[in-house]
Amino acid sequence: MEAAQRIRQLQEQLTEHSYRYHVLDSPTISDGEYDALFRELVLLEEAYPELVTDDSPTKRVGGPPLARFAQVDHRVPMLSLENAFSDQDLRDFANRLERYLNMEVTSGYSAEPKLDGLAVEIIYRDGLLVQASTRGDGLRGEEITEQVKTIGSIPLRLIAPYPALIEIRGEVYMEKAAFHQLNSSREAAGEPLFANPRNAAAGSLRQLDPTVTASRPLRFFAYGAAENSSTRAKTQNQLLDKLQEMGLPVSRYVSDCRTIDEVADHFNKLLTIRHDLPYEIDGMVVKVNDFDLQSRLGVKSRAPRWAIAYKFPATQATTRLIDVEFQVGRTGAVTPVAHLDPVLVDGATVSRASLHNRDELERKDLRIGDTVLVQRAGDVIPEIIKAFADKRTGDERAIQMPENCPSCGSTLVKPDGEAITRCKNLGCPAQQLRSLIHYCSKAGLDIEGLGKKYVEQLYIEGYLKAIPDIYLLDPEKLAQLDGWGELSAKNLLAAIEGAKTPPLARFLAALGIRFIGEITAQLLEQHYQSFDELQVAPRDELLQIDGIGEQAAESLVDYFANERTAEMFQRLSAAGVVPIMNRSTNADAPLQDLVFVFTGGLEQLSRDEAKKMVKEAGGQISSSISKKVTHVVAGAKAGSKLKKAEELGKQIIDEDQFLKLVSG
Ligand code: IVH
Repeated sequence: MEAAQRIRQLQEQLTEHSYRYHVLDSPTISDGEYDALFRELVLLEEAYPELVTDDSPTKRVGGPPLARFAQVDHRVPMLSLENAFSDQDLRDFANRLERYLNMEVTSGYSAEPKLDGLAVEIIYRDGLLVQASTRGDGLRGEEITEQVKTIGSIPLRLIAPYPALIEIRGEVYMEKAAFHQLNSSREAAGEPLFANPRNAAAGSLRQLDPTVTASRPLRFFAYGAAENSSTRAKTQNQLLDKLQEMGLPVSRYVSDCRTIDEVADHFNKLLTIRHDLPYEIDGMVVKVNDFDLQSRLGVKSRAPRWAIAYKFPATQATTRLIDVEFQVGRTGAVTPVAHLDPVLVDGATVSRASLHNRDELERKDLRIGDTVLVQRAGDVIPEIIKAFADKRTGDERAIQMPENCPSCGSTLVKPDGEAITRCKNLGCPAQQLRSLIHYCSKAGLDIEGLGKKYVEQLYIEGYLKAIPDIYLLDPEKLAQLDGWGELSAKNLLAAIEGAKTPPLARFLAALGIRFIGEITAQLLEQHYQSFDELQVAPRDELLQIDGIGEQAAESLVDYFANERTAEMFQRLSAAGVVPIMNRSTNADAPLQDLVFVFTGGLEQLSRDEAKKMVKEAGGQISSSISKKVTHVVAGAKAGSKLKKAEELGKQIIDEDQFLKLVSG
């Protein structure tokens, strides 16, 4: 088959499979098969750049970072909605518009879940996604085309028939499970957490570097178009059907309601299922179905007369702030936690709330004894929205961020420009306990029988002070403990035995080193031949690894340079703990143990592509000529690196030789 034909075929197949996966949720091939097709397309497109089209699935990986966001004017303003909070408000809305129209609205209403994400506009010209932007102030937003292209459920090309120009509007959001997962890996890496799925979605989309957006699990639902006349639809429900036919994801909880009673029923239905949905909704949007009626009704200031947002009842409550406790996390971050008079919010009793950090405390100007408004937004940790300053009696006490660690007493530090106050003492008992919990948890080595509760118990009993103690637990003493017996002690010991040879990446992630999450740990495992080698790796060498940034490199160097760390590893090693290298040693890894440097221009491959090939073949990349480098791939106009490589007698190969080597 000709390359052009094969490229087109792969593009079509991949588009179809991506649609089945992301929109229909019913894939017909495995992830591995998809990846193989994708790789084939990448290679072909690299070889024939003139055949790459803007709707190729390879355009989804995220382009180069932007210096800043460009501003985009919305051709048709993106309006906001007025709110309804009760059935009465809903009926008032219907009465208002019937009075305005001087007729009954017999064509009914579209009742749609109100997704809690952020509004975007996506423009398709001749079926092709050409521009995407945020809502901004409604008139002007920020251009996020490359970011939006990385979202799998958004088609790069519409399925025909489609109008020559259509400006789709909808909501980008993150599912609750994905949000929790993202936050736990951020926590493991010592990065600040997102407060809720909406913030996570917004923070992920508004990234100057589209590859960051690509790494975040964002999704999209379409709910409208800037101009209804662009399709032949006569009603909102017809429009949604057409959008779906064009390949856009549309919520399946949209209801075509005849009467306002049916609208009210649908609201109650959404209210019951809301917590079972995989994503957050904060209410329902009601729209007059008929487009002719919509245009007769028009817009009042910034919101249309033909639609209203019927919000779910407030998940907020008023209570008293009794006290503030300062908790020390695993990486030493000191977080203020509010103790509240227990109060029922959205079906759950809330007695604690996170106050995040010192800046949050100052911004909210809270005092102990204050009457406060607390909120529980879906799945997330309850938070204090504000204090009612007018309810103060004068007996309230200011909240002081401590100068010293509440656990070990050492002086806390707050680096300039960072929101987080930290205890830097690696020997701090609170950090030790948190580290122990993390080490044994699912995110760590997943030691069965050492869940949080049991780690706490053993810590309090004095059997566990630091990670190496895990491997020295005495089964006889364990069996005597409250809630334990001979069998559970024996089982635990077996599980601990199994945790003596963890894969290196797993072990690194379990240690809970700041900025070293699971993914970074894997990069390190791929790069180093042994744990010993990693421990002495200098900062500059770490920085040469693709994907390791300054923060991670410095954090690692600091960690390994610490005396306590050294002592801990000595104890671990004495207890027989040996992290193992999880390298595959098969024919799939023809570049096993080889380290490549690229210099000069390549002809058949891009640099990124070549690097990717090296990694996939089990090799490593270095950006400068060092002792470890085994091969230097010299392309056109190779400069000083080539000279240095020659001087050091490194093996120098050209692009063809490289390709042969990679293909084994
Ligand atoms: S219609 C004029 N439909 O709610 C119509 N909006 O203030 C304006 N939203 O941030 C929007 N789900 O992104 C509409 N099914 C839905 C929606 C929806 C969520 C968001 C929208 C905007 C806010 C409206």
